[in-house]
Amino acid sequence: MKGLILAGGLGKRLRPLTHTGPKQLIPIANKPVLHYVIEDLVNAGIKEIGIVVGYTDERIQQIKDSAGNGSKWGADITYIRQSGPLGLAHAVKTAQTYLGIDDFVVYLGDNMLKSGIKEFVNEFENSDAAASILVTEVKNPGSFGVAELDANGRIIGVEEKPAMPKSNRAIVGVYLFKTTIFQAIDAIEPSRRGELEITNAIQKLIELKKKIISHEVSGWWDDTGNVDDVLHANHMVLNDLRHEIKGTIMPEAKIIGIVNIGENSIVENGAVIRGPVIIGNNCKICNETYIGPYTSVGDNTIIKNSEIESSIIMGDSEIDTGSQRIMDSLIGRHVKIKTNANMPKAKRLVLGENSEVML
Ligand code: DAU
Repeated sequence: MKGLILAGGLGKRLRPLTHTGPKQLIPIANKPVLHYVIEDLVNAGIKEIGIVVGYTDERIQQIKDSAGNGSKWGADITYIRQSGPLGLAHAVKTAQTYLGIDDFVVYLGDNMLKSGIKEFVNEFENSDAAASILVTEVKNPGSFGVAELDANGRIIGVEEKPAMPKSNRAIVGVYLFKTTIFQAIDAIEPSRRGELEITNAIQKLIELKKKIISHEVSGWWDDTGNVDDVLHANHMVLNDLRHEIKGTIMPEAKIIGIVNIGENSIVENGAVIRGPVIIGNNCKICNETYIGPYTSVGDNTIIKNSEIESSIIMGDSEIDTGSQRIMDSLIGRHVKIKTNANMPKAKRLVLGENSEVML
């Protein structure tokens, strides 16, 4: 079996971060979402992996720089360029030559799955089904592909982001297909939003009376498409964090709970870190700083006079909030947050397009 990771798209709901980088590289507990996806495929025994990339040369290069040729996972990665963000089925069709006659797993490059896919891959390999999909109950099915099941748990219909969902079962972004999916893709038209929807191709398989297996996902699943979902994924991964201190903790610093501190990082006297918290390499957590649970701090970051909780600081940043608390925040790379000593009540903001600040 081959793996196909879809890492094109525009990532509109994660702007401004996605103005400068693809959403699949947003770090969750200091590791890009894309790497979790590759690891899950490799763990299921799938080492021939195509990554569909699109949009701009810069983004494609960023993804290539991050995942390389796959050798660090023992995998063989091939990059496939999509002509534009024309939909998931269009992305799959773009990879048809690469996939050849093999069965394959399509894994959306922004999805994370706690339980992993190994079990589903094994079952599909031993079945005659044309497709296997994963579903899970959600409160807002209208934001996803939605599956309707009969009393025996068989899929009777699927719809993409319906206004009136027929069930509360969202389709998770991992699909297993045989090559019959290409016939189905050839038979569908672009949706109202102008995309060739993989959900409509699956609906076509149903109409062609092809066998489709479905599974309820156990454990958490996240589509890291917006800020809340990114923070939720960070929270869930940090729940399983391993305590490891590679850097230096000064004697009067306070470390409580599970904390992971990278190489050449220093936690100064007077700083308090309450885990689960991960701090990358070459960071400095200064005196009078509190870093609270469910926070990830990326490499090369200096934090002083600050309180930060339940947030992702992506890295290469300098943060001084003047003891004000930052919560539930997603802060990109090369960010400076400073206090305004001359005008303590005034806020000076230099924000890029689509930034969001809550004062
Ligand atoms: O996360 C699960 C949901 O993913 C499913 O329930 C939906 O049925 C499915 O359509 C999809 O919905 P999203 O709106 O979340 O898809 P998104 O546009 O975010 O794209 C998912 C991934 O595929 C993302 O990594 C970007 C990539 N992509 C997207 C498009 C539209 C491509 O590689 N090419 C594309 O043309």
